[in-house]
Amino acid sequence: VVELIINGKTISAKPQISVIQALIESGVSDVLNAGCLNGVCGSCSVFVKYAESSGIETELGCQLMVKEGMQVSFVPNFLSVSEKYQSKPKQAALEIPAALSELFPQVDSCRQCGGCTNSCPKGIDVEHFIKLVIATDYNRADELMESCVMCDLCESACPEKIQSQHLGVYLRRSLVGLKPMPSNLLNSINRIKSQEINTDL
Ligand code: SF4
Ligand code: SF4
Ligand code: FES
Repeated sequence: VVELIINGKTISAKPQISVIQALIESGVSDVLNAGCLNGVCGSCSVFVKYAESSGIETELGCQLMVKEGMQVSFVPNFLSVSEKYQSKPKQAALEIPAALSELFPQVDSCRQCGGCTNSCPKGIDVEHFIKLVIATDYNRADELMESCVMCDLCESACPEKIQSQHLGVYLRRSLVGLKPMPSNLLNSINRIKSQEINTDL
């Protein structure tokens, strides 16, 4: 049995289960941060302090395994306000530079402090992403954010409130018209069109 503290409460958990499973199995019925439980939805951000270290780290609670003496606090759902924009894939790629200064004007204020990179539970070098955006290297910037799960931790750690996660989505939407469709997606669309896949519910 592993003993740890979650949201200020001491919990005994089976070894080799995730922090969010430990919380659920301890009898907490309304775990607000639970979503996909599979590292995809980004809703289960936690602050964690290990017994052997003095620093605080950020992780996803469904991916973090329980460990003796760890202290965990779920991050309250942080409502990031995203900008509204119309996505027009065919021409959007050409309009990125102008649209960026209108939609994400804070980007130019990046202090290169690394707070975003340090806070990312997916290990994305968010600071480098911002540098690539400023250098107008949009394709490489887009690739860097491929594993982003929109947990909002980078924005919450940013002293300039730069919305790197929303900027990543904006770039993906803008560049999609310039990229070939993934073959598995194309294949599935063709199978739906030929009614090989039944889409009736
Ligand atoms: S880039 Fe930001 S929103 Fe995306 S996973 Fe990392 S911290 Fe979360
Ligand atoms: S936390 Fe904000 S200011 Fe610091 S490097 Fe990241 S984007 Fe730039
Ligand atoms: S519950 Fe979805 S990422 Fe953890």
